[in-house]
Amino acid sequence: MIYSRIIGSGSYLPRNVVTNGDLARRMDTSDEWIRSRTGIRQRHIAEAGETSSSLALEASKAAIASAGIGARDIDLIILATSTPDYIFPSTACLLQAKLGIKGCPAFDLQAVCSGFVYALATADLFIRSGQHRCALVVGAEVFSRILDWNDRGTCVLFGDGAGAVILRADAKPGIMASALHADGSHAGVLSVPGNVRGGNVTGDPFLRMDGPAVFKFAVRVLDEVARETLAKCGRQVENIDWLIPHQANLRILEATAKRLDLPPEKLIVTVDTHGNTSAASVPLALDVALRDGRIKRGHHVMLQGVGGGFTWGAVLVEM
Ligand code: ACO
Repeated sequence: MIYSRIIGSGSYLPRNVVTNGDLARRMDTSDEWIRSRTGIRQRHIAEAGETSSSLALEASKAAIASAGIGARDIDLIILATSTPDYIFPSTACLLQAKLGIKGCPAFDLQAVCSGFVYALATADLFIRSGQHRCALVVGAEVFSRILDWNDRGTCVLFGDGAGAVILRADAKPGIMASALHADGSHAGVLSVPGNVRGGNVTGDPFLRMDGPAVFKFAVRVLDEVARETLAKCGRQVENIDWLIPHQANLRILEATAKRLDLPPEKLIVTVDTHGNTSAASVPLALDVALRDGRIKRGHHVMLQGVGGGFTWGAVLVEM
């Protein structure tokens, strides 16, 4: 049997840090409101010249270095983003060129905040099929570009960043199980309902959200999909060493851990310093906890996404 294993990770955040206090000086909000509702203290915001592919490049270089491979060893690139550099070519192709490699398939995957979990599950299946042996899987976002900075109900929640892993074929898992879902009937609850037509934006180019509806949906499906993924590989909640849900807000993370009967110490939290970085949030949190030594070889880590679509999913990984 061929399995896939994460052999390296990397992440990158723009240097520009925007605190809640900075936002409170620009709009009618407060550190107290943002912190008590979301747990967010600050976020990183891309400079004008930074794009999803440039953030992805830095995260990918760090992942390649930590895996101890060369860029030429990569034979598949899957990049999750909802904020691509262009309509086309894909950000994955732009990243491939920036990495100085050619020939391997490279494509973007659009599942909003579930994007990285979707991409990791997809790369795992490509590797298990025997078609590919070494995948670069990336989540990269510049959500600051699709925020309405006059809408205090949404713009305070998000940040920019990128995270990446190298997934390589192995005789042992690795990725133990995954589960992916979508329900497009909820499209209107969280969306950027705009498009480009004849050189103009049609519709609305900004992120719109029904916050309370997202909250309720996220907590329910994160609980369900964690249990479904565990059942697929015959594991129990007690086998989870670390839980990394999509970093939407602290209350969603804590409510998910509580529903799963997991102690809050098993949660990896980065939303406080990164904000919600959509498809980048899970690989960013994974990389932080690998580098600070909390996640060790042999640990079981439950990675979870939920986002616009709605989409949701989970991947159980043995590191
Ligand atoms: N600062 C101060 N006041 C604010 C702000 C702000 N930034 N934003 C909204 N308010 C006000 C509102 O105007 C409203 O005032 P009103 O009562 O006078 O009308 C009041 O605060 C309450 O607004 P609500 O939207 O009801 O606030 P709620 O307690 O529901 O919290 C929040 C909003 C934090 C968005 C919450 O619904 C939530 O956590 N939802 C989950 C959604 C989420 O995390 N989305 C992230 C993206 S989706 C994803 O990643 C899957």
